[in-house]
Amino acid sequence: MTPADLPADLTTLLGEGAHGYFAGGAGDEITLRDNETSWSRYALHPRVLVDVGERDLSVDLLGRRRAHPVVVAPMAYQKHAHPSGELGSAAAARATGSVYGLSTQSTTPPREVAAELGDHDRWFQLYVFRDRQISLDLVAEARENGYEALVLTVDFPVAGWRERDKRSGFTVEHPIALNPDGPALTTEELFALHDPTLTWDDVAQFAEAAGMPLLLKGILRPDDAERAVQLGAAGIVVSNHGGRQLDTALSGADALPPVVDAVAGRADVLVDGGIRRGWDVAKALALGADAVMIGRPVLWGLARDGAAGAEAVLRQVVAELDTTLALLGCPRARDLDPTYVGRAPWA
Ligand SMILES: Cc1cc2nc3c(=O)[nH]c(=O)nc-3n(C[C@H](O)[C@H](O)[C@H](O)COP(=O)(O)O)c2cc1C
Repeated sequence: MTPADLPADLTTLLGEGAHGYFAGGAGDEITLRDNETSWSRYALHPRVLVDVGERDLSVDLLGRRRAHPVVVAPMAYQKHAHPSGELGSAAAARATGSVYGLSTQSTTPPREVAAELGDHDRWFQLYVFRDRQISLDLVAEARENGYEALVLTVDFPVAGWRERDKRSGFTVEHPIALNPDGPALTTEELFALHDPTLTWDDVAQFAEAAGMPLLLKGILRPDDAERAVQLGAAGIVVSNHGGRQLDTALSGADALPPVVDAVAGRADVLVDGGIRRGWDVAKALALGADAVMIGRPVLWGLARDGAAGAEAVLRQVVAELDTTLALLGCPRARDLDPTYVGRAPWA
């Protein structure tokens, strides 16, 4: 199994609506496709004759040492991928030592996911809705249940133009915090509940309400990264939301280096979008990221085989990173630097 092969028969497994929602992107899906190819526009520059007998994949994130740099990206409606839903992907995160990101639009309440995770690292992703009390209540629930950080997603004032969902009319049939008692709503109806008036001033308020470190997810410009740091963000997730929001937006891979320069070590920088292989993770770290988020491959593993499938996907990416560190002549993930990567001659 390779993560890249996984989607093959998932349309049959999930049905067209859920598959389109999970796999799809915005518009002509140019950004969706570019997210994956953007990592292959970088070439690795391996160093030889280095003792790589022992490798150390660990990284520091939010001031704590983590086993490796792979974080499970927050993703909505996971019970539509597998009946175990978020409990399945959380179990996979725990089993592989991956920090777990729980979506606001989770089909499992934050406290239940926390119970599954025990004392394992978890972050809570927040959307701000027109009814702000819903968001504030979720922050309180996250804080009470041991979520370590708040990941405020800032690239979703409105939903992207998602034609697969428009065509299929996919509806979310499981209870979620936004819509606890049903009825089933289309994703478009649910997305209309997001607050399009959110600004930097509100972010400051949520940062205060959070009482935990804040990461801003969905930043692609160095000037926005600077503003986030000024506001006291502990981290930035360089992301185009998996190509689901603004089609033809640049990839995380391309946006990352200027953001790393702007942040200049004052906050942690994560990146996501199209990261499928351990060597993609190594490139992200070499370009200055402290960690990465991985989205869809975890869902494909979950859809195929529940927690065990998601775990297999995460294990493989981490094992590929280990092999990559050995072959790059860089036994410690924390030592990856820009000398290990360059623009690919074929790009
Ligand atoms: C099905 C799906 C649902 C998502 N839901 C959320 C969400 O609720 N909140 C959020 O911040 N990001 C969400 N994302 C974006 C992911 O957190 C992440 O940025 C993206 O999936 C990374 O790209 P990748 O899937 O190519 O790895 C979602 C992505 C997918 C594929």
